[in-house]
Amino acid sequence: MALSATDLTAGLVVVANRLPVDRVVHHDGSVSWQRSPGGLVTALEPVMRGNDGAWVGWHGGVGETVEPFVDEGLTLVPVPLSTEDVEGYYEGFSNATLWPLYHDVVAPPQFHREWWNSYVRVNQRFANRTAEVAEQDGVVWVQDYQLQLVPAMLRLHRPDLRIGFFLHIPFPPTELFQQLPWRRQILEGLLGADLVGFQLPGGAANFVRLVRARVGHKTHRDTVFLPGGRVVTVAPYPISIDSQGFEQLARRPEAEQRAQEIRADLGNPRTVLLGIDRLDYTKGMPQRLRAFGELISDGKIDVNEAAFVQVATPSRERVGQYQVLRDDIERLVGRLNGSLGRIGRPPITYLHSSYPREEMAALYRAADVMVVTPLRDGMNLVAKEYVACRFTEDGALVLSEFAGAADELRQAYQVNPYDINGLKAALLEAMNASPRELGRRMRAMRRQVADNDIGRWASTFLAELRRVRPPHGKPTRPSSVAS
Ligand code: G6P
Repeated sequence: MALSATDLTAGLVVVANRLPVDRVVHHDGSVSWQRSPGGLVTALEPVMRGNDGAWVGWHGGVGETVEPFVDEGLTLVPVPLSTEDVEGYYEGFSNATLWPLYHDVVAPPQFHREWWNSYVRVNQRFANRTAEVAEQDGVVWVQDYQLQLVPAMLRLHRPDLRIGFFLHIPFPPTELFQQLPWRRQILEGLLGADLVGFQLPGGAANFVRLVRARVGHKTHRDTVFLPGGRVVTVAPYPISIDSQGFEQLARRPEAEQRAQEIRADLGNPRTVLLGIDRLDYTKGMPQRLRAFGELISDGKIDVNEAAFVQVATPSRERVGQYQVLRDDIERLVGRLNGSLGRIGRPPITYLHSSYPREEMAALYRAADVMVVTPLRDGMNLVAKEYVACRFTEDGALVLSEFAGAADELRQAYQVNPYDINGLKAALLEAMNASPRELGRRMRAMRRQVADNDIGRWASTFLAELRRVRPPHGKPTRPSSVAS
C-alpha cells in the first residue's frame, strides 16, 4: 500500500542501513520482496512489527527510488542508493574500512577519502529522511556502523527528538580505532545520541575512553558531559533473539521430520556438526574446517560416523575480500572432501545459500554439535538460536571466546579459534560428552536465552532512552552518577 506524506510520521522510528526486506527484480522484470540477511534484521524485526513504528532504510536495489509502503503493520521508508553510493558508502567505507577495523583488523582496512565523502553524503540523506518521518518529540533509534554520523546530523535539525544509537558489531580497542583518519568525526557523530548502546561493557568503555582522549569531553563512568549541559549515556545492551518464536518453530512436527530427513540424507552418521554463517572472513570458517579435517586425518574421527554441514550465506559479494574468502573456502572444502571422503561420504557438506527460518530450525534440530567459532563477532545470534531450538536439552555448542555471546553462554565449550589444537580438543570433547553433561550445560544456557530475549533487550534500551531524556525535559543524569 503506498502512503501519503502525513501517513508516514511515527512516534518510534528505526533507522538502519537495510530495510527488513530487500527488493528483488527478477529476469522477467517482476519484483518481489525478500527478508534481508544478517543479525540486525533478525533481532529488530519482531520488535518493530509489535510497535506500529516506521523503519527507514535502503531497499537493497541500486539506483531505484521506491515509495514508502506498509508491510504487516510496519511503515517502511526506503532510502535510495546510487551505484556510486553503493560503491563508496556501502561496499567501501562501511564494509572495507569500518567492518575490518572494528573486527580486530582480521583483514586490513582500506582508507579512501572518496569513500569517506560518500559515507558523509549518505548518512546525511538518512538523517534528512528520518527528520521528515519522526513525530514531534518522537523516539528515533539509529542502528549500526553504517550510520554513525546520523545521530549528530539529526539532532541539528530536530533537537526535540530522543535519539538512541546501538552498535551491533564490536567497538574496537582504542589503539585500533585511532588508525581511522576520521576518528573524531565518528565520535562526534555518535555523541549526537542521548543513549549510545554497545553489545559488551568493553566496547562501551573503549568509546568513553576515546571520547575523553580524542574529543576532550569530561566523562564519568558511563556518562559524557558535553559543553552546554547535555549529557550522553553510554552502556552495554547485549542483543538477543525471539527465543520463544524459534523454540516454537523447532517444536513443530514438520521441523522434527525435516531434521530426520537431513540426518538420513547425510547417511545417518553418529554425529552431525553444523556451522551457519554469513560468508564473512570474521567468522573463522577455514580454521574450523581445517580442525575438523585434521581430526579425520589423525584418525580421531571416522568419516562414516561424523558429517559437518557448513551453511555459508552469500554476503557482500562485490567486495574484494569476500570474493577472495569464497575462493579460499571452496578450495579448502574441495581439498578436504577430495582427500578425506569416501563414495557417498564427503566429510563436509558445503551450502552456499540462505535458508528460511523453518529450515534453519530443522538444521538446528538435526545438529549434535553447533560450531560457532568467529575470530571476532559483536554477538552472534546463531549461537542463541541453536540454544533456543534445543528444547530436548541436548546438543553441544562450541563457541569462540571472541563472540559477544561468550559473555552470556558460559556453559558452551569455549575456544580460542586461532588455536587449532584447542579447537580440535573442544570438538572431540563436545562430540563425546555424556547426555548428563550436555543436559547440564544446555539447561543453563537455555535459561539465559529464554530470560534475555529480544523483547527484553529492546524494552530495556527504549526505557533507558526515555529515562535519560524525558519528553520536553532536560536530559537527566543516569542514576549511577552522583550530582
Ligand atoms: C551484520 C551487520 C548488519 C548487516 C548484516 C548483513 O549483522 O551488523 O548491519 O545488515 O551483517 O550485512 P549486509 O551488508 O548484507 O547488510
